[in-house]
Amino acid sequence: MKTIAIANQKGGCGKTTTAINVGTALAATGRRVLLIDLDPQGHASFGLRAYHLPTDKSVYNVLTENPEKRHSLDRCVANISPNFDIVPSNIQLSTLEQEFKGKEDAISELHRVLLSSYPSTYEYIIVDCPPSLGFLTFNALRAADQVIVPIDMSAFTLMGVGKLLGMVELIKMKIGHVPRVNALATLFDKCTTYSQSMLEEVKTFFGDQMFQTVIRLNVALKRAVSEGISVIDFEKTSNGAKDYTALCHEILRLDGVEHPERPVMSMLSVQAAREEESFLPAQEGMEKSFEPDFEQVTFTVEAPAANDIYVVGDFNNWKTNEECRLDRRENGCWEKRLGLPHGRYRYKFVVDGEWKTDPKNQECEGNEFGTLNSVMRI
Ligand SMILES: Nc1ncnc2c1ncn2[C@@H]1O[C@H](COP(=O)(O)OP(=O)(O)OP(=O)(O)O)[C@@H](O)[C@H]1O
Ligand SMILES: [Mg+2]
Repeated sequence: MKTIAIANQKGGCGKTTTAINVGTALAATGRRVLLIDLDPQGHASFGLRAYHLPTDKSVYNVLTENPEKRHSLDRCVANISPNFDIVPSNIQLSTLEQEFKGKEDAISELHRVLLSSYPSTYEYIIVDCPPSLGFLTFNALRAADQVIVPIDMSAFTLMGVGKLLGMVELIKMKIGHVPRVNALATLFDKCTTYSQSMLEEVKTFFGDQMFQTVIRLNVALKRAVSEGISVIDFEKTSNGAKDYTALCHEILRLDGVEHPERPVMSMLSVQAAREEESFLPAQEGMEKSFEPDFEQVTFTVEAPAANDIYVVGDFNNWKTNEECRLDRRENGCWEKRLGLPHGRYRYKFVVDGEWKTDPKNQECEGNEFGTLNSVMRI
């Protein structure tokens, strides 16, 4: 599980747009994603049509100390699309700082909640911060493994960024927690020399902490929000969709994933199998099931030099047998499609006799041999 905070106290620099679209793009690659709307304005909740949910199931209820109002994280999660959930927010969240006034280590509350829900079903947790450097943003930075700082290409854009970086420094000094910080150029208008010179200035300021992906000014991003969907679902071919997909791939590459567009545990295959099923004509006398007990899961490994690859796990008692032998494809990839019942599974690949975790699945847990198993949920 990796937590990414999207933070910058400057208003309107693209935090929420980034949170919604990075979340959607990561989910489209098959990763399980949770977006936590940590802004009392609730813009991410509006931008994903999650505002009609019960007001007592919001991020406030996850963080409050009031026992009558507090709920577990699980209870406050709403599903947006396959692999993509949200914990919505509303104005009540703005009262939280007062509740925690004077409490020691109040900035670690979100961190504690995320730790207590571990092991999590989510591979990525995205936290959309408010435009301020108060209690809520501190909580997000404390919980984050990575902080994305959207920087819009406008005047005064770098003013105040130093304060945000100072907060990260403070957390490092006090708690020893050091999230990776990456700046992201947003609202870039290639038609103006002003945008170009701002971009150069920001690149000079952040150096190699800057994402290579630049988010261009694109009207589809605005229109998608008003429709209550991500730009990827609104207009897949728009520059906004292309830029946020590129950013998602860059994030995955920074996390050591070589081929982000082709996850090994292909949830896209699961989805495709579902769609296939929904196109099948209903057999006479047979009820069509929309909730199959089994899912088709495709395991793929890239290993051009290998001679033999098996997938072993809880689902086959960790035995290498013909049913779990991967088939070699022409492009150096190996593949196996298995129908598995819903559940949580630990698994590994056996490549020419050597047991290996799935290099493209970040969810792992220790085993009794002191090594790691990959973990997946269906
Ligand atoms: N690349 C872009 N191209 C065009 N419009 C954009 C782009 N990015 C964001 N916007 C628009 O700019 C406005 C502000 O964006 P957004 O809400 O993401 O900023 P924010 O930093 O979350 O704001 P706040 O600080 O209020 O939370 C929104 O109307 C959004 O649709
Ligand atoms: Mg916002």
